[in-house]
Amino acid sequence: MCGIVGYTGTQAAAPVLLSGLSKLEYRGYDSAGIAVLNEGKIGLAKVKGKIANLMELTDSGKNVPGFAGIGHTRWATHGAPTDVNAHPHISSDGRFAIVHNGIIENFAVLRDELTAKGYEFLSDTDTEVVAHLIEMYYTGNFKAAVMKAVSRLEGSYALGIVCTDEPETVFAVREKSPLILGAGIGENFFASDVTALVAYTKNAIYLEDGEFAEVKPDGITVYDAAGREITKPISRITWDIEAAEKGGYDHFMLKEIMEQPRAVQATIDPRIKNGRIHLDDFEMDSAEFKNINKIVITACGSASYAGQAGRYAIEKLCRIPVTVELASELRYADPLIDEHTLLIVLSQSGETADTIAAMKECKERGARVLSIVNVVGSTIARLSDDTLYTWAGPEIAVATTKGYTTQLILLYLFAIYAADKLGRIDSAEYDRLLSEIRKIPNLLQRTIDMNHDVPALAKKYYTHNDVYFIGRNTDYAACMEGALKLKEISYVHAEAYAAGELKHGTIALIETGTPVVALCLNEALAEKTMSNIIEVKARGAEVIALAFKGNTEIIKKADDIVYIPRTEPLFADVLAVLPLQLFAYYVAKERGCDIDKPKNLAKSVTVE
Ligand code: F6R
Repeated sequence: MCGIVGYTGTQAAAPVLLSGLSKLEYRGYDSAGIAVLNEGKIGLAKVKGKIANLMELTDSGKNVPGFAGIGHTRWATHGAPTDVNAHPHISSDGRFAIVHNGIIENFAVLRDELTAKGYEFLSDTDTEVVAHLIEMYYTGNFKAAVMKAVSRLEGSYALGIVCTDEPETVFAVREKSPLILGAGIGENFFASDVTALVAYTKNAIYLEDGEFAEVKPDGITVYDAAGREITKPISRITWDIEAAEKGGYDHFMLKEIMEQPRAVQATIDPRIKNGRIHLDDFEMDSAEFKNINKIVITACGSASYAGQAGRYAIEKLCRIPVTVELASELRYADPLIDEHTLLIVLSQSGETADTIAAMKECKERGARVLSIVNVVGSTIARLSDDTLYTWAGPEIAVATTKGYTTQLILLYLFAIYAADKLGRIDSAEYDRLLSEIRKIPNLLQRTIDMNHDVPALAKKYYTHNDVYFIGRNTDYAACMEGALKLKEISYVHAEAYAAGELKHGTIALIETGTPVVALCLNEALAEKTMSNIIEVKARGAEVIALAFKGNTEIIKKADDIVYIPRTEPLFADVLAVLPLQLFAYYVAKERGCDIDKPKNLAKSVTVE
């Protein structure tokens, strides 16, 4: 999704803006631009395509001089990805430049009003109305004009604005779209996320909805929606620039796959103290748990698949009904949720618009909200009653990997914690499960070490255009994630099916040579899945089986076998998904795809 950066200070602004934008590339975009204040004028450069085009156009920023400016990567919503529709947009009088993240829902009405008043629109964007509105309300007071214009807007917006009359000031406005201020020394910044800030400062100020900031080289003033100055805490960013770089890997995705043992360790470590689970500030005693009659997990995409895997663990250990609801559906479902519901919200970015909306809907109905989020200070974290951070570090590749596995770990820990509070497991089982959790980082490393053959497997199968993933129970949950990974980065049609469902329709699609990835980790159901393997093989499928090391039965049935080390079956998905991620990665590589930035996708889906 779109990315915003802003800078004011003593350095040439354009290179800082371009470097910030390059750190936001992973969010997904199709055009980019910058505007820099210089000698009472706005220097503007914007272009369709990659940041590299903008670098070329501006000679790495050299031909857009000045010390304060704003920049943008655009992911087209209103209007095609063209040079003209790229941000920044300029007011008719050339006094204001603006960048925008989000959607102005009432832009059509505003556009008609402004057109009737003689303002001429150059682009098809919803954003341009903001530039003209500010111009319309400007009578010499920049802040007042911004406030008046913003009061007319409906929808979601993070805005960066500059005005030629205030050559050192950049304004930042936040409403339902992320925006973080970076406090430096003699220079200050803002950006859509901290990856764009961390090379310059580790001091971040998180704006709330309705707040806005006047950013100058020697200080930042934050205001509430009524324009009153407010004091905001400065938070320390805990990771450094290396975490947001490729570190020798060809792609961020591969780096992030390989980081999983460490990421998962970072998720687990702060949660186990003296052999007991501590879920940060989340506290629910037995009585409170008994007052809950269901758990609803909501999320989008991979996070919802993590929810599916977590659901099995929670239901099995706690014996509480758990449903997993896609946030985009739940938000409009008039859901049966009340104060006896615990809502678990999963989101790597913490900014997914559908997830935020579903969560608000459920909160209004009385649900207690526990979120599992990676990005510190994100909207979902701030709106939840309690938040468990996954501590996975920045995830840059559009396709989530460590975001998913660290979410799973927290769901498993939650399941054990809740089962204990509910008296559904005894202390021996509690200790056993916890010791299995502690082994997972090492087992993930062993999974990596055992799977050097995945590139060869990808070479064998990459030309196929349809791949099916089958499994039962927890295996089925991992299938969903495996299929999504393959679809999104390699553009191969992939579907996950509960193995028992095959004969109700899908098996008609199996032809000679169709690859079927069969997960056989749930040993209680292994025989059943084996029968399904035999069924698809009888119709010509080539079966790639995923099994625990030591499963020799499978050798007789499958064409290819991928092994993972043995673990508690309830937690197997966290290991199973790793070779599936690698398979998707290497298939995409064979097919020459843009792995970190798959077509049509954005990292953080901040619009509906
Ligand atoms: C797939 C993927 C997406 C996200 C989904 C939710 O690899 O990354 O399906 O899982 O867009 O995003 P978050 O977790 O940021 O809410």
